[in-house]
Amino acid sequence: MGIAIIYASRSGNTKETAELIQDECEKYIGNRVPLVPVTDLRAVEEVCQHSTLLFFGTYTWGKGKLPDIARKALRFMIKENDFALPPVAVFGTGETIFTYYCRAVDEAAYHLAHKTEVLGTMKIELAPRGPKAINVVRQFTRAIIDDWMEGYKSGIKENQNTGT
Ligand SMILES: Cc1cc2nc3c(=O)[nH]c(=O)nc-3n(C[C@H](O)[C@H](O)[C@H](O)COP(=O)(O)O)c2cc1C
Repeated sequence: MGIAIIYASRSGNTKETAELIQDECEKYIGNRVPLVPVTDLRAVEEVCQHSTLLFFGTYTWGKGKLPDIARKALRFMIKENDFALPPVAVFGTGETIFTYYCRAVDEAAYHLAHKTEVLGTMKIELAPRGPKAINVVRQFTRAIIDDWMEGYKSGIKENQNTGT
């Protein structure tokens, strides 16, 4: 399977989370997993077309806003192209002191669900530092991959049953 991670990060927290997901994916599946910033639309297109599973990460800005750079990439992925998107998991960082904690994660998942299957979402306070938070990210990553594998296996079974 081919996994890729697309992320938006301003001060580094979401990037740090993305790197941890990358590390866990690479340990779990044994393949290299590219990390793509949302601003590199050429690389975004490349990984959307050639991956079988995507992770999409964003921080939250303003009053619960999806940052413009993440919105632009999502528009590109969902509306401005014909390519089919693989299933996606959405993650993000934010701060619980804000009223709309990590709301950009929900918005990104809402938009992506119009075009593909959203396998799950994860919200992290600031950055995954300390064993507990690191474990949350690692477990989420494995659960998403397991989920994807299950879907893939049942897809094969269905195809065998129906002969398609
Ligand atoms: C001006 C400003 C507005 C923010 N608004 C929110 C918000 O509405 N909800 C939230 O959960 N976090 C909010 N945050 C916190 C950031 O999302 C959080 O620090 C995040 O980890 C930054 O990610 P990054 O380091 O990847 O850029 C805000 C931060 C700033 C500076």
